[in-house]
Amino acid sequence: MSAPVLPLNSRGKLASSLPAEQLAEISQLFEFRRTGYSLDAPFYTDPTIFKIDMEAIFGQHWIFAGSVAELPEPGDYITVDYGPYSLIVLRNDDGGVNVLHNVCRHRGARVLTEAAGSTGNLVCGYHSWTYSAEGNLIHASAPGEAKFDKNCFALKRAHSREVAGLIFVCIADEPPTDFDETSKIFEPYLAPHDLSKTKIAYQQNIIEEGNWKLVMENNRECYHCDGHPELACSLFPTWGLTEGLIPAHLEEVWDRNKEAQSSLEERCRRYGLPYEVVEELDTRIAGIRISRESLDGEGESFSADGRRLSKKLLGDLPDFRLGRCSMHLQPNSWFHFLGDHVITFGVFPINEHQSLVRTTWLVADDAVEGVDYDLEKLTYTWKQTNLQDKAFVELCQQGAGSPAYEPGPYMKSEYQVEAFINWYVQRVQEHLA
Ligand code: FES
Ligand SMILES: [Fe+2]
Repeated sequence: MSAPVLPLNSRGKLASSLPAEQLAEISQLFEFRRTGYSLDAPFYTDPTIFKIDMEAIFGQHWIFAGSVAELPEPGDYITVDYGPYSLIVLRNDDGGVNVLHNVCRHRGARVLTEAAGSTGNLVCGYHSWTYSAEGNLIHASAPGEAKFDKNCFALKRAHSREVAGLIFVCIADEPPTDFDETSKIFEPYLAPHDLSKTKIAYQQNIIEEGNWKLVMENNRECYHCDGHPELACSLFPTWGLTEGLIPAHLEEVWDRNKEAQSSLEERCRRYGLPYEVVEELDTRIAGIRISRESLDGEGESFSADGRRLSKKLLGDLPDFRLGRCSMHLQPNSWFHFLGDHVITFGVFPINEHQSLVRTTWLVADDAVEGVDYDLEKLTYTWKQTNLQDKAFVELCQQGAGSPAYEPGPYMKSEYQVEAFINWYVQRVQEHLA
């Protein structure tokens, strides 16, 4: 009698399968990381370290995938890929989110191949195995396969969390629990912008020729913001600086910034909106920085004069002049929540030298393009800024590939880069231990 066809659990763990010598060498790189300095070149160029990053960081933590505006209706889905992983994030009939590994349980084909769409059942394009939205195998033509048990071949599932309209996924068997605490911090800041009543105005996918950590490092400082003339119109280029660190050419900007910040805080107190800085980038597993900060000019939006870019206020917000509520989450996202629109940024590593950066502009769901907002104007500042950032990241990737590269010191204003790297090193070391 032949045995029933049952799946074997064959999930391998790279860290434990590496030859002891190689693992020791990699562990030493982490151990001897020089605090306050950029990482050694292999962190940005070595395929084995990239695999460890996928296992220890992207395989263990809560990862930003998208927002509710990307899957408003049952059957709507997005696919998100990072490293070797591909996940389907799908809105189910109950209003919840199912996260399924996008790997057919027959011979492993990608089940859904589009970046986004809407579907009933999920049909694999190879031999038509058909799965329900829950991932159960509901149809597989199997003539003569008496022992074939469909129940054993459901798509593998992962975890999801939806907080204030942001969707997070985690493929670890047991996701880190401190995300609950982190979400309690950011929910009150973001909820008033009500993402459930927004729609996508535009989504941009850029592939940067850079390691994902370089993309994140670049985002965590504004030391380079002289290279962002469009952004500098609305975002005070004094970000990351404190009294005593202000260079002479920014003194006037700093004074304007302080004045704008105190009047923003006064308005926030009046409206009951939180604005205080919470900065725990390397002191918790789900690292976060959140604050509400003033914008230059009219203080409403990312435009040259700071005026609104969409005429429709988000949620039940009382005022357009709310600056930007900005959030950084480890490991792969940052956000700007404004009165008139929201921008989400997600970084999805492809390999050790390439990363997908996905930027999504959300506006009120009743805002009409061409009437309430001009798409070109809405997206101009960050489209330009993203291209400039892509160029900066790529310059660093090229540098890391040179034998002449050696780690250089982070400046005081780059303390968040240091915090990001601290977080990363701690998390990987914990995983390798
Ligand atoms: S690989 Fe999907 S049905 Fe065969
Ligand atoms: Fe930048």
